[in-house]
Amino acid sequence: MGLWSKVKGKGTQFKGPQPIGQAIIKNLPSSEIIDSCSIAGPGFVNVVLSQKWIAKSIQRMLVNGIETWAPKLPVKRAVVDFSSPNIAKEMHVGHLRSTIIGDTLARMLEYSNVNVLRRNHVGDWGTQFGMLIEYLFEMFPNGQVNDQAIGDLEAFYKASKQRFDSDPAFKERAQQAVVSLQGGEERYRTAWTHICEISRRGYERVYERLGVELEEKGESFYNPYIPGALELLSKHGLIEESEGARVIFIEGKNIPLIVVKRDGGYNYASTDLAALWYRLNEEKAEWIIYVTDVGQREHFEMVFMAAKRAGWLPAEDNKYPKASHVGFGLVLGEDGKRFRTRSTETVKLVDLLDEAKSRCKTVLIERGKADEWTEEELDRTAEAVGYGAVKYADLKNNRTTNYTFNFDQMLNDKGNTAVYLLYAHARICSIIRRSGKDIEELKKVGTLELAHSDERVLGLHLLQFAEIVEEASTNLLPNVLCEYLYNLSEDFTRFYTNCQVVGSAEETSRLLLCEATAVVMRKCFHLLGITPVYKI
Ligand code: ARG
Repeated sequence: MGLWSKVKGKGTQFKGPQPIGQAIIKNLPSSEIIDSCSIAGPGFVNVVLSQKWIAKSIQRMLVNGIETWAPKLPVKRAVVDFSSPNIAKEMHVGHLRSTIIGDTLARMLEYSNVNVLRRNHVGDWGTQFGMLIEYLFEMFPNGQVNDQAIGDLEAFYKASKQRFDSDPAFKERAQQAVVSLQGGEERYRTAWTHICEISRRGYERVYERLGVELEEKGESFYNPYIPGALELLSKHGLIEESEGARVIFIEGKNIPLIVVKRDGGYNYASTDLAALWYRLNEEKAEWIIYVTDVGQREHFEMVFMAAKRAGWLPAEDNKYPKASHVGFGLVLGEDGKRFRTRSTETVKLVDLLDEAKSRCKTVLIERGKADEWTEEELDRTAEAVGYGAVKYADLKNNRTTNYTFNFDQMLNDKGNTAVYLLYAHARICSIIRRSGKDIEELKKVGTLELAHSDERVLGLHLLQFAEIVEEASTNLLPNVLCEYLYNLSEDFTRFYTNCQVVGSAEETSRLLLCEATAVVMRKCFHLLGITPVYKI
């Protein structure tokens, strides 16, 4: 129909869209991919894929591994800037979202053979450190600091902030401390390192539990690169003087991007400009991805626009190198407000993961697993399901919308949850186990056939995996992969309900289809950072 509208009235031999369709079909070279073609409706060309070809493609994947289905992306190296909590402040659920989404994006790119630099852009620099260091000196005048003494870093932060706001002399000393720290004075550097170290140990515990790897290059790292980066921007005439500060005006934005504050200090924006320069020029990244809440969209838009005007990035959005901001919505509590617990303003992440795990463990014990499994197995499964549930509940939503945190919902074993999916996978594994067949052997000697229509639907869905990963990574949308995984398990259920596997005449072929489904599901879990379970 599209072609018809182009040639219509231009002396074409065709009488309408249907004859064009017929001509296309007639001239299609024969291919093992195509079973048959037909014209449908006012001018659609329907192509029926060959069953043999679908089956062969799946079997080839089974033999050669799912890595052969990895999509090809037009970049070799990417930076994923994610998690990025601020030292001495609580790592809150927003940082959890960034950690989960960023990790998945990194995993998808890694699967696509992109070299990914996983960057933790921690807030370890800036004026708040003057206050913290000064308070540390006050609390421990002899320098006998230890972790226990500082205890809860967040409380420490609050106390020092209070001191800062209420005592002008303290405030003055704190401001002086920033200068000393930035000047590299030993005593200040040591105190700073100490504070960072304690904070780091806190969030590393969260990463370990979540199985997330990150390399810290905090704001402080880019500090030495700021003058050079600003110099380059200056050369392009981008930086202007405004009310004592140095700023970049961006077309279409009411307020400029401040790059040097009135007191001469650098800020979040100057750090991000230097970091962007570093990532492009020193790390040679072709795609730089920033995962933060949507509240920072404006900031990144302005940073990217400045970089485009300076010629660091191409003006066109579809060209590389490219910078993308991946914004996400808020995590809400049942009351529809920002997620908090009774006792503290923000939810402690470790507590949250503990609770998910312990709820899962309770369910497993209720199901009598304590008698069947070792304590270690029980723990491992509870962890995989509990943490998986937290991650999946976050990833399955379109990331830009807010979502409500609800343990009961995410731990439900029915519906679109990790629990349901993990159980579905475990069930497939148990079908294969029950058959008593050596699946590795079957892969070599057996043949996959997709005779039943439910087998065919499942097979086609499996084949779409690579496309889906490509779409999810190109558009930076993990929910696309979640939706695929959920539909896959639904297709599997339909197949399993209608087609007998163990003991049937088609047993070999159907076991291979089970195995292919399990392999693809496991890859999905892997990309979503979820640990699969094999029995339930
Ligand atoms: N530390 C920031 C925050 O907690 C996030 C940093 C994101 N990355 C960046 N390059 N600005 O909001």
